[in-house]
Amino acid sequence: MTRFFIETFGCQMNVVDSEKAAALLRRLGYEWTDDPEQAEVILLNTCSVREKPEEKVYTRIRQFRRRRRDQVFIGVMGCVAQLYGRRLLERVPGVDFVLGTQALGELPRIVEHLRAQGGPSIVQTRMSNRPEFLEISPAERRQRHVAYVPIMEGCDKFCSFCIVPFTRGRERSRSPVRILAELRALAEAGYQEVHLLGQNVNSYGLSHRIEGGRPLAFFELLRLVAEQSGFPRIKFTTSHPKDFMPEIVRAIEEYPNLCNWVHLPPQAGSDRILTRMNRGYTRADYLRRVQWIRSAKREIVLTGDIIVGFPGETERDFQETLRLIEEVQFDGVYLFKYSPRPGTPAARLSDQVPEEVKTERLMRLEERQREIQLRRLQRYVGRVVEVLVEGKSSKSQLHWAGHTTDNIVVNFEASRENIEGSLVKVEITRANPHSLFGRSLEVLR
Ligand code: 5AD
Ligand code: SF4
Repeated sequence: MTRFFIETFGCQMNVVDSEKAAALLRRLGYEWTDDPEQAEVILLNTCSVREKPEEKVYTRIRQFRRRRRDQVFIGVMGCVAQLYGRRLLERVPGVDFVLGTQALGELPRIVEHLRAQGGPSIVQTRMSNRPEFLEISPAERRQRHVAYVPIMEGCDKFCSFCIVPFTRGRERSRSPVRILAELRALAEAGYQEVHLLGQNVNSYGLSHRIEGGRPLAFFELLRLVAEQSGFPRIKFTTSHPKDFMPEIVRAIEEYPNLCNWVHLPPQAGSDRILTRMNRGYTRADYLRRVQWIRSAKREIVLTGDIIVGFPGETERDFQETLRLIEEVQFDGVYLFKYSPRPGTPAARLSDQVPEEVKTERLMRLEERQREIQLRRLQRYVGRVVEVLVEGKSSKSQLHWAGHTTDNIVVNFEASRENIEGSLVKVEITRANPHSLFGRSLEVLR
């Protein structure tokens, strides 16, 4: 029996690609193992959005390469593979194949070839940018309860800091018919929650590359899947503020199964920096969208991403970002230090911010956001929420953990029966800065 091991770095899109890679290898009769020592094929699915996750990949390859080539084949897929291609072989010796983000379909052929004949390392990083989406069945997924389903891939926005348009290629939208068919199959198989994924879901159907050729705006797709997929919980991520429309908020108001959560990354609070980032909106534009969300008939949780220390960011610009988080009162924010990425325009700017300044700003922002978040989450204490139980809590086997419909993490005392995968009514008794704690009242289904 040939065993394979996959390690995944980065975003949810990579989680999906790893599931697809696993499905392709299983179709060859190979078997998944959680122990890399047992594996004959090791795949690293990589992320290049910042320097740190990229560095981690090199470390892992070196660790795995202690074994001889006749014992294990090592492949690198994902964004680092796409970015460096053949150069990766020089950077870290011992890589047997490099598979770009649009070459996943080649995986079985490459692995079978190497195992049968050996030979030099294989690099496949051609981009076709064709709107073709590799599909797997519900039974082939490893993730239970929550399904990640890409609706579009790639990005045409070219924010000046971001490597994604180079690693994931041009925007391609998937056929609404195919999306609906997959969602129905997943709902029938018992999945309770789906995340519609895209680098930029609001651009769904806007580009010319549409599988099947039938354009539909994102809010129309949302209405379609809310009405016809049979999914109790539908979430989507990531929204770019530029293409975010009031119709999306209206769809959420109208359909209870469209979850009350929007992830809308502002990236910065100062117009000067937003322009330099090439984001295509101003602070006022962003705040207008927040207003649409906040004035919805149903309470909608708002989260975002922020980068500190973008080249040229002054203390005054940073103060604008601090003011933004005060004004918006996010329920959660991912905060990042700017990390220069090869080939991006921002990396070439001469006024890079010193590392200590970035660190210091990050800490100030984190501290302030922590207070805001704690206060925000306290509004849940005493409320009864619906939690999809995804497993035991990462901190304690005594607690179950899951997310609410508005995507907040809830931990609660574990009953003895196994309720993984169930929807449970939980009364919230305590708020922490990043999660809620409660006691279960009733298992719904
Ligand atoms: N440096 C730091 N953060 C970045 N992100 C994207 N590129 C960079 C970079 N070069 C962040 C953005 C994005 C999130 C996924 O990662 O905030 O929304
Ligand atoms: Fe990167 Fe901007 Fe595209 Fe998001 S919208 S993937 S930050 S280029």
